[in-house]
Amino acid sequence: MQTILVTGGTGFIGSHTVLELVNSGFQVVVMDNLSNSKTASLLRVEELTGKKIPFHKVDLLDTQSLDKLFTDYDLDGVIHFAGLKAVGESVEKPLYYYKNNISGTVNLCEIMSKHGVKNIVFSSSATVYGDPEINPIPETAPVTAVNPYGRTKLTIEYILKELYESDHSWNVALLRYFNPVGAHESGLIGEDPTGTPNNLMPFVTQVAVGKLEKLRVFGSDYTTHDGTGVRDYIHVIDLAIGHIKALEKLNTNPGIVTYNLGTGKGSSVLDVITAFEKANDINIPYTIVDRRPGDAAVCYADPSKANKELNWAANRDLQTMCRDAWNWQTKNPKGYE
Ligand code: WQD
Repeated sequence: MQTILVTGGTGFIGSHTVLELVNSGFQVVVMDNLSNSKTASLLRVEELTGKKIPFHKVDLLDTQSLDKLFTDYDLDGVIHFAGLKAVGESVEKPLYYYKNNISGTVNLCEIMSKHGVKNIVFSSSATVYGDPEINPIPETAPVTAVNPYGRTKLTIEYILKELYESDHSWNVALLRYFNPVGAHESGLIGEDPTGTPNNLMPFVTQVAVGKLEKLRVFGSDYTTHDGTGVRDYIHVIDLAIGHIKALEKLNTNPGIVTYNLGTGKGSSVLDVITAFEKANDINIPYTIVDRRPGDAAVCYADPSKANKELNWAANRDLQTMCRDAWNWQTKNPKGYE
């Protein structure tokens, strides 16, 4: 029975991954600095699994507390979610992002190395592809940073690659997420953004629940089938399961591996609105406004490498994502409060 430390485990993707880890028979230890999440998500996971999950409020910049976790637990690997993730905020506060995301990860890797824990799954992002030339996007596509948040993700990928090159006893999985949405079917855990949502789906669910008046669609003059931006929306449970498969892959000592975690299907903003309205029999008022600076027109995955090498595929469709997102929101109109 392997014991896995999940950094950022009270967050949206973290909590869903903790649930799938426990359901898959792993022992899990969660750490989070709670800067952008609440322990309530973990209490819900305990309710769903019937298992107690050790939690420690630890910041990656607190090396002493971080070190103590590796002394107190006999860890076999780490899934590393902890990090700031708001694109707009990263433009306003780049040093905050570099310090928290990059220095925090360097601290984590130093302490992992000290304790001989050298299996890490890293939460990267499709944002490293910038405004992609080709879609669907393979892992071999050119990478670039288009904002400080994306630069932290790309820099950490390079740090982990060079760490592996310096010491081949490491096993590293870089997982490039496309657009995670939805919630566990119970509606007990879900996406609970701080303040007004930046991302499309939580904005839609807050319009649907009456918390926000209407959706602004950022641009309708892109070269897409309906002029609005196209993304690869992936159900958060499919994404969580991808992490289990990545951990299993690391147990085969692959060295460093990189995978796109997406469905391979592109959906426009208007497609999402239509799917949400159909799935939930609800109207989403919206208005078309100017493009959001920095947005790519089209970004969706070629997930064939993960399909083959991880024996994994995202199989929940957009209707299911919309239904589960709405189920979470209606059961938790104010999130975890
Ligand atoms: C999706 C589409 C918008 C909001 C970002 C990060 C990525 C990851 C996910 C952190 C785009 C449109 C959005 C709205 C809209 N972040 N939109 N009105 O920008 O693809 O990815 O979030 O983990 O790393 O880059 O996601 O949900 O913000 O936008 O029209 O109110 O919805 O223009 O086409 P994005 P998003």
